[in-house]
Amino acid sequence: MIHSSMNCTKCKTKAVMKLPRHNAAFCKPCFNHFVHDQVEKAIKSQAMFGPDERILVAVSGGKDSLALWHILLALGYHADALYVHLGIAGYSERSYDKVQYYAKMIAAPLGATLHTHTVEQEAGAGIKELAQLVHRPTCSTCGTIKRYQFNRAAIEKEYDVMATGHNLDDEAARLLGNVLHWQEEYLDKQGPSLPASVEGFAKKVKPLYRLTERELAAYCVLNKIDYIVDECPMAQGAKTLLYKEVLNRLETESPGTKQYFYWGFLEKQRKQSATSAPATMAEKDQTILHPCMSCGQPTTAESCSYCKLMARAKSAVPH
Ligand code: AMP
Ligand code: FES
Ligand code: ZN
Repeated sequence: MIHSSMNCTKCKTKAVMKLPRHNAAFCKPCFNHFVHDQVEKAIKSQAMFGPDERILVAVSGGKDSLALWHILLALGYHADALYVHLGIAGYSERSYDKVQYYAKMIAAPLGATLHTHTVEQEAGAGIKELAQLVHRPTCSTCGTIKRYQFNRAAIEKEYDVMATGHNLDDEAARLLGNVLHWQEEYLDKQGPSLPASVEGFAKKVKPLYRLTERELAAYCVLNKIDYIVDECPMAQGAKTLLYKEVLNRLETESPGTKQYFYWGFLEKQRKQSATSAPATMAEKDQTILHPCMSCGQPTTAESCSYCKLMARAKSAVPH
């Protein structure tokens, strides 16, 4: 990260971080300024939220989401956080420690609150056991539970918007996967700002989509934000990691490829929605969604996928 011979593009003091995709290098204050500026640009250009809105940040203890909480607080937003304790032996405790430390030492003095949802308390088992009971991969069970709990917490606690730490690498890798398989339905819904299409669904935003993994790791190190470095032991989909690797190779050869790919997609999406006037997402969703018969959250089926999962897990427990 340290390039001793380089000077900051902005203020000409010694640079600590090189950014080939912007053809720039920055010292610590100018790098922080750059990061904050990218997040402000994301918030404004995608109409994510205003200065008076209440934001709930989903924090996992990893670099992206802790950096996101930190940046939003530094920019003066009203941002509280939610940690979902998944009950993964060892890993959940260690990531929770990082989140609690940050919440107590940095966020609380700024008036921000940490909420915690513990899967084991509500479901009677951690995600690994639940996944085994319903014979589904741990990661997809985990995804269903997290999406459900993020939305529920935002609605019940009356936040205006729910924010996650997805960065440019995450979004570009996901776009590559969706394009390679021509997942048109997913392409339609892939964006950094998803409106609250119907009552019961919180608005969801990704304010870090203009920053890379490498930049966010550097931001944490420079600002002494202690995060959990290891990935979840249940291993993220190997495909996503492969797409990220491929994009990083392209990025090394031609800096800027990743942002060109994803931002270009967003620009096309914007142009398309401006010229054609198809049913908006809200209109489309309203026609197919209704309240889940068990929990009341919007769903296309009788029961939502979370309630179905819990019902299957319960019926699988030996009596
Ligand atoms: P991942 O799907 O693990 O790449 O995480 C994407 C985003 O989801 C993170 O940046 C966080 O904002 C959020 N997230 C992931 N795991 C948790 C968790 N256990 N609790 C709260 N938020 C989480
Ligand atoms: Fe969900 Fe690892 S974080 S399975
Ligand atoms: Zn339900």
